[in-house]
Amino acid sequence: MAFIEIQTPRLLLRQWQESDYEPFIALNADPVVMEYFESVRTREESLAQIGRITANIDKNGYGFFAVERKDTGQFIGFTGLTNAPFESWFTPCIEIGWRMSRAHWGQGFATEAAEACLQFGFDKLDVQHIYSFTSIHNNRSEHVMLRIGMQRVGEFDHPNVKNGHYLKPHVLYRISAPTTKKQP
Ligand SMILES: CC(C)(COP(=O)(O)OP(=O)(O)OC[C@H]1O[C@@H](n2cnc3c(N)ncnc32)[C@H](O)[C@@H]1OP(=O)(O)O)[C@@H](O)C(=O)NCCC(=O)NCCS
Repeated sequence: MAFIEIQTPRLLLRQWQESDYEPFIALNADPVVMEYFESVRTREESLAQIGRITANIDKNGYGFFAVERKDTGQFIGFTGLTNAPFESWFTPCIEIGWRMSRAHWGQGFATEAAEACLQFGFDKLDVQHIYSFTSIHNNRSEHVMLRIGMQRVGEFDHPNVKNGHYLKPHVLYRISAPTTKKQP
């Protein structure tokens, strides 16, 4: 499926390219970026993840888009929409997610990219609800959810995290499509 790039004032959201590989391997190996995941990712794991993400974008026309700064052309991480990859009471559903390199935190890039993805999901994919979730300890990620207007639905135990692990409890947020749609 053809994917049309998404532009925001400062960012370009696009399919991944080879120049993204090394910076993504580096951010996935950063223990601060990966604090709320069970482990950092090896080079091979990051390359495999890029392969899965790229294939999803090719197949569906959406996925975790590579995020590029327009002013520097730098790859700074990913933000996008994907099908939540596990079974729970709220799945199947479209999830919005983000992961940025530490040098690009605190500048509103994740929020800017996420707002554009919500609009893309509602306007172009005709999705009715978009969900997001993260460890109950991941305040930075939860703040992005709040900044983009999502509402807290509750908490759940992530089925892919080991029982008893402190990262198992997750917050769940949701946002619904605006009720008034533009006439064609
Ligand atoms: C989650 C994550 C993307 C949030 O990054 P972030 O930089 O805090 O979020 P934003 O890019 O939206 O930036 C918001 C901050 O930029 C500030 N900011 C500066 N300039 C801004 C601007 N022009 N516009 C908006 N906000 C701006 C905001 O005030 C806010 O600051 P605060 O954190 O002090 O409140 C980042 O921490 C990350 O990649 N974490 C690791 C991966 C992860 O945990 N992902 C989620 C797993 S489910």
